[in-house]
Amino acid sequence: MNAAIRGVAKTLMLRAQTEIIGIEDGFLGFIERRSRTLTYQDCSGILSLGGTMIGTHNRANPFDYMGEDRSRAVKEYYDELALDALVIIGGDGTLSIGYELTKLGMNIVGVPKTIDNDLMCTERTFGFDTAVSIVTDAIDRLRTTGQSHQRIMIVETMGRNAGWIALHAGIAGGADSILLPEHPYDINLVADACNQRMGTHHFSIVVVAEGAKPINGEVCTRETIKDSPEPTRLGGIGDQLKQQLEQLTDAEIRSTTLGHIQRGGSPTSFDRIFATNLGSYAAGLVINKQFNLAVIQRGNQLSEVPLDSVAHKTRNIPNDDPTLQTALSMGICFGTETLLRSGAKLNEPE
Ligand code: F6P
Repeated sequence: MNAAIRGVAKTLMLRAQTEIIGIEDGFLGFIERRSRTLTYQDCSGILSLGGTMIGTHNRANPFDYMGEDRSRAVKEYYDELALDALVIIGGDGTLSIGYELTKLGMNIVGVPKTIDNDLMCTERTFGFDTAVSIVTDAIDRLRTTGQSHQRIMIVETMGRNAGWIALHAGIAGGADSILLPEHPYDINLVADACNQRMGTHHFSIVVVAEGAKPINGEVCTRETIKDSPEPTRLGGIGDQLKQQLEQLTDAEIRSTTLGHIQRGGSPTSFDRIFATNLGSYAAGLVINKQFNLAVIQRGNQLSEVPLDSVAHKTRNIPNDDPTLQTALSMGICFGTETLLRSGAKLNEPE
């Protein structure tokens, strides 16, 4: 997020001599009237830092803050600060709130950010590449124990109800099985794949997305956060899968939940460049007075769509996703046969 803030701020300062005000802790800063001017100097030296130097908050929905609609207070503070525009950086929650605020007359440009990569209209969100790199590194490290101790190693990833992180990191880490929220799994198929792999290679790697669930089963909930626009926090499927598999295999099994490690540390060079590009592009929209839009990437090109096309929606992995098809072609087990029968064509030359 720092790379995106820097991209927005420096572009506006250099191209349009704009004064930049950072709202502290996301929409909470609007509700509590907390902001500060960001100088050019403030926006330097932050590119390699994860997180955000102005803070964020995931329980401050102005339309329902502690049971009250505080959206008018947000608009009042926006007017008082005499903002020309508000650039918001976030996932579907942030962009949805942003879209609702446009109805109050605020000029908004959205920049899509989430490790989950699950926003509509854009092929990528920044944060995703960093998360995938961290999970891939973790799989490489867990393979050491899997190989030397001849175990099945389960790795649980984040991603909410979309399996993008699990799919991409699973392929990059050479997983034998990848279990996705998009396809409830048959535990017997997963056990067969593990047993087969144990027979030939004496270890197996299973990547499971936090939103995955067995056929006829439920997703695992880690906790429920009161007042959060999206109260359910997922987690625990890795340990549940371990118990299920222990009934169907003789191998020793260990499960690791990576959790917030996936969101921390220094961003990859890809994410730094991508976030800078998106931020700078958003600044260009502000300079051109083009508002109520979200910046997106399609076919390696940046463009913009109306904010309402990304608000209140998320994007799952479609069956014809090329990376998913590659994984199927490589014989990776997804714990389902229907995916192969679903009409999704494998990546094969015409
Ligand atoms: O949406 C990003 C994400 O990291 C999800 O992958 C995860 O389910 C959730 O946020 C965790 O939220 P929190 O930080 O509130 O526990």
